[in-house]
Amino acid sequence: MSMSFDFSGRTVAVTGAAQGIGLAVARSFHDAGARVVAVDRDEDALTDSWSAAAQDTVLPIGVDVADEDAVTSAVAQAEAWAGGIDVMVNNAGITRDVVVWKMTSAQWRAVLDVHLTGTFHFTRAVIPRMRQQGWGRVVNVTSYTGMHGMVGQANYAAAKAGLIGFTKATAKEVARFGITVNAVSPNASTAMVAAIPADKLAALTESVPMGRFAEPREMSAAFQFLASDEAAYVTGTVLPVDGGVAM
Ligand SMILES: NC(=O)c1ccc[n+]([C@@H]2O[C@H](COP(=O)([O-])OP(=O)(O)OC[C@H]3O[C@@H](n4cnc5c(N)ncnc54)[C@H](O)[C@@H]3O)[C@@H](O)[C@H]2O)c1
Repeated sequence: MSMSFDFSGRTVAVTGAAQGIGLAVARSFHDAGARVVAVDRDEDALTDSWSAAAQDTVLPIGVDVADEDAVTSAVAQAEAWAGGIDVMVNNAGITRDVVVWKMTSAQWRAVLDVHLTGTFHFTRAVIPRMRQQGWGRVVNVTSYTGMHGMVGQANYAAAKAGLIGFTKATAKEVARFGITVNAVSPNASTAMVAAIPADKLAALTESVPMGRFAEPREMSAAFQFLASDEAAYVTGTVLPVDGGVAM
């Protein structure tokens, strides 16, 4: 898939970059000339996905985004490697699906810690340098579920809805500094989707106006647009890339 955005000279950090949407998006930024900081807590998958990449253009870091200290040191490592992070893509995610009356506190916390607190950790850590240079892009990843709910996903819906509020509040705080903060609401065939029971997945696929889940690489253009110079006047938005589900 050819795209015309040029990220030469930019450093793009992507969380959850070992597989799925994060891997596809990180690869597309790399193909568009960016240095990529590929963050994931699954170090084996990270190595498998990125071992062939040149060391001067890709920095894989094994980090749990929910771990505040680990995120602080990962950002310091990235800044030492590349001088700073220009584009932050907060994509790492998990599900722990169960109806709310059977949900354990551990299942609740695990999902909020990764999506919501992990996004907070990285965003807080990268903004000071973006403010200094007067340019930055943060792209968060929300979900249809965060806007409309889904049976068995009270934890995930709360986290993804929270991310929309976080995106808008943060966008207002940093708008005067040349920094935009937006969110993508994707729909793509990944391991997360493969974990959905077959009958439920068939019904979900049926509910997509386009009648299919996308390939992860079909998400890349939206992330690149929101991270581009050209999108300088776009902030606080949620961009659905979902085959029409959100209509
Ligand atoms: N696939 C979809 O249709 C869909 C729909 C809506 C939203 N999303 C969101 O898109 C994002 C990517 O999902 P995906 O479908 O590619 O899932 P995926 O399971 O294929 O990939 C998620 C990646 O995040 C990593 N990760 C999980 N917890 C982490 C942590 N604590 N620290 C660091 N890395 C961690 C995993 O190791 C994995 O590599 C998620 O935020 C998900 O909620 C996906």
